[in-house]
Amino acid sequence: MSEPRSAPVTVPAVRTAKVRDGHAPLVMVTAYDAPGARIADAAGVDILLVGDSVANVVLGYEDTLQVTVDDMAHHVAAVARARPGALIVGDLPWMSYHVDTADTVRNAARLIRAGAQCVKLEGGAVRAPMVEAITDAEIPVMGHIGLTPQSVLAFGGFKVQARDDGAARMLVEGARALVDAGAFAVVVEGVPEKVGAAVTDALDVPTIGIGAGPHCDGQVLVLHDLLGISGRTPKFVRRYAELADQATAAVAAFAADVRSGAFPADAEVYH
Ligand code: KIV
Repeated sequence: MSEPRSAPVTVPAVRTAKVRDGHAPLVMVTAYDAPGARIADAAGVDILLVGDSVANVVLGYEDTLQVTVDDMAHHVAAVARARPGALIVGDLPWMSYHVDTADTVRNAARLIRAGAQCVKLEGGAVRAPMVEAITDAEIPVMGHIGLTPQSVLAFGGFKVQARDDGAARMLVEGARALVDAGAFAVVVEGVPEKVGAAVTDALDVPTIGIGAGPHCDGQVLVLHDLLGISGRTPKFVRRYAELADQATAAVAAFAADVRSGAFPADAEVYH
């Protein structure tokens, strides 16, 4: 999936994209609006994740617990309006898949009707019944295990997970349970490199890592982190640009031009 795309990316294409079977690593980035989706899609990424990280990255919250299905549907729809060829994943927010299966399926369907082609949810074996119910409704599901941000209160902070052998074994078992329930790919976040490798070896569907080392079947980063807009650089982030600095310089130049009378110039005026 590394060549320029000739057709939109589909769930079946992602499901089979294991590096050990000769596939190129999957590339996923977050997108929360139409311009972000256009930029990432033009760069040829495989998957756009409309992540609940919109809460802290864009909406100014401290964590992801504050966003609702309404919020997520709003951002999914904005991304879908860009008509990307990349696969659109809608992130199910906290409490949208924790009550019962009927509620879960209805919430997943809302993100699909907003324009997502599949949904993602956090958690291991405990979420398997929800994954099964959503896939039974013909909605593809991506799992998400490890340092799951919606568990921030239960974890007591954003801490690397599965550091000991027992926890690593449970993580692998949880990943297997998600796939047995129908998950077509699994995000692995914030675990030691060897745990990322163990989950990847254990699954016949691709793993997509974030802070999970180089042995996953793909990597995901938050768009604003890699562009240098978010103002945060966790250990697992590489910044490929410093757009916040460039944006501040651009706005400062505009302000200076307004104040000096250099803007607008004759060419920028209707006569
Ligand atoms: O919401 C998000 O951005 C995510 C990624 C960190 C995987 O879930």
